Amino acid sequence: MQTVRGSEELTRGLAELRQTGTVALVPTMGALHAGHLALVEQAKRRADAVVATIFVNPTQFNDPDDLARYPRTEAHDGEQLKDAGCDLLWVPAPGAIYPDGFATTVHVSGVSERWEGEARPGHFDGVATIVAKLLLAVRPDIALFGEKDFQQLAVIRRMVADLAIGVEIVGVPTVRDADGLALSSRNANLSPDERAAVVALPQALESARDSILNGSPVADALEKSRNLLRNAGFSRIDYFALVDGQTLEPLEIAEEGSRLIAAATLGKTRLIDNFAV
Ligand code: PAJ
Repeated sequence: MQTVRGSEELTRGLAELRQTGTVALVPTMGALHAGHLALVEQAKRRADAVVATIFVNPTQFNDPDDLARYPRTEAHDGEQLKDAGCDLLWVPAPGAIYPDGFATTVHVSGVSERWEGEARPGHFDGVATIVAKLLLAVRPDIALFGEKDFQQLAVIRRMVADLAIGVEIVGVPTVRDADGLALSSRNANLSPDERAAVVALPQALESARDSILNGSPVADALEKSRNLLRNAGFSRIDYFALVDGQTLEPLEIAEEGSRLIAAATLGKTRLIDNFAV
C-alpha cells in the first residue's frame, strides 16, 4: 500500500491504479475499526483497486471540543488498511482541502434537514462538501459508505444523483459487537458500566421493529422503545423515529424500505443507530 499526501502524488498513484482496472473509494476520518474495514473488504470484492482516505474534516464538526477530542491513530490505521488489502491511502493536509479563500459549500436540501441535521447544524453541509471534493479528486468508479450513518448515506446518494457525479454509491451493512452494539469510534469513551447499558439502543430498535412487524401502531412501538432507552439510563433522546429510507421523512406506517433511526446520549456519549423494517 502506498500512502500519499500531496495532490501530485495522488494523481500519479491513481494513474497507476487505473491501469489495473476499476477503482473504489472508501472515505474515512481514521480511528479505524472493523466497521471501516468491512467497507474496504466490500470494496475489494467490487473493484480492482481500493483507495482509502483519512481526513478529520473540520467543517462537519459543529462542536469544536468534539473535533479536538476526535481520536487520531494514523500509524495504526495505515497498518490496518494495508492488512485489509487497500492499495492507496490518501491523507490530505487540511490546507490542501480548504486553502485560503475557500468559499464553496454543498447543501443538500430536504433529506439533510431533520434528525442529525437538526441536532448538529451545518454537519451535513460539511459532509456533502468534503465528500464531493473527495469524489472529484479521486473520480472512483464506486464509493462505499456505512449504513451505520444512514442519513449520511441518503444525503450522499441525493447529492451524487443531483450533481450527476457519475459514481456508484454502495451502502455497507452495519458491523456490530457480539451483543449488537454498532461499532463506533465513540464507544471508546464509554465506561464499563455505560458500555453494558448502551446495548439498550440496538435492543430498543429491535423491539420497535418487531412490534411494528407484528402490527402494533408505529407511535406505540416508538414510545415503548423510548421508554426502554430512558430506563437503561439514556438521559437524552434526540430522536427515535420510523422514516422513509430515501427522503428520511417520518412515517406513520411502515412501507417498503422504511427505517428506524435513533440518536441518544448516555453520560457524555451520544450514539446513533438504525434498523431496517
Ligand atoms: P467515519 O465516521 O470515519 O466513517 C467512515 C465510514 O465508515 C462511513 O461511511 C461510516 O458510515 C462507516 N462506518 C462507521 N462505523 C461503521 C460500522 N459499525 N459498520 C459499517 N460502517 C461503518 O462518516 C465519516 O467518517 C465522514 O462523515 C466521512 C464520510 C468520511 C466524510 O468526512
